[in-house]
Amino acid sequence: MSAKHVILVTRKLPDAVEERLARDYDVRLNPTDRLYGSEELIKMSEGAFAILPCHTERFTADVIQRLPDSVRAIANFSVGVDHCDLEAAKARGIIVTNTPDVLSDATAEIAMLLMLGAARRAGEGEQLVRSGDWKDWSPSFMVGTQMTGKRLGIVGMGRVGQVVARRARGFGMEIHYHNRTRLSAAAEEGATYHGDLQDLLRLSDFLSLHCPATPENQGLLNADRIAALRDGAIVVNTARGAVVDDDALVAALRSGKLAAAGLDVYNNEPDNDPRYRQIQNTFLLPHIGSATRETRNAMGNRAIENLADIAAGHEPNDRVA
Ligand code: DGY
Repeated sequence: MSAKHVILVTRKLPDAVEERLARDYDVRLNPTDRLYGSEELIKMSEGAFAILPCHTERFTADVIQRLPDSVRAIANFSVGVDHCDLEAAKARGIIVTNTPDVLSDATAEIAMLLMLGAARRAGEGEQLVRSGDWKDWSPSFMVGTQMTGKRLGIVGMGRVGQVVARRARGFGMEIHYHNRTRLSAAAEEGATYHGDLQDLLRLSDFLSLHCPATPENQGLLNADRIAALRDGAIVVNTARGAVVDDDALVAALRSGKLAAAGLDVYNNEPDNDPRYRQIQNTFLLPHIGSATRETRNAMGNRAIENLADIAAGHEPNDRVA
């Protein structure tokens, strides 16, 4: 019987996922869930056939070039792959996969929570009750923005964007979107396509970001684009912090150009821009878009399926490089 492939698992995964991995592979687990630095990552990959990382490990061109020759694949436990230099992986013939589809529902739920939380000032309200400082009710107390009947602009109408559109329709919102390519009429489900992002911005009461953090999308929501948004608009981000220019967003929140923002992702996580914490009109979560038991198990299983294909010499379903 041939020896099992060695798999380096960089973070603590759900028990069922780790048990399944341990059945099929010689696994190097991380029971204490310590975050590995680049040097340690390279060292621990010695002799490994594949690495199963999260978006918390950075596979820069330098790291990829220095990975041991044994490493044939990086089977990510994430849909986002902006932490991996895909060109460098291709150049070394290392296969890279991700886990699409399985986290769309969970992430869309968080996008809805951010919209509600930002629009209805849920962070402020919760803080008031929790601190014991809530003293009164009046018609002018904690008045926010209603979602019903508003126009939602979706930037990036991929899997998550489409689920958000469906959920938002349940709130009586009118759906508009911008995407590199227009969806089929069936997939649009009545949403209005705007080939020009500026056109989408001009009419959006709410804007939800769902585009990947590709080099072209870095700082996509900048001062010019925020200026194009309707006054009093609300922005939510469940994609990646890198698609937002923090200076521009903070300035717009401070000036009142934007009524509020709901953020689950940030530049430089977890050391995000401290100004977001100082502003009242933000509703902030710690990158929990995919954090449900169901989704985390599904992400693990999807990564295992990709690994199994690669180990068997087949093309994995979710190959991105
Ligand atoms: C993803 O899968 O990209 C989520 O952001 C968690 O990494």
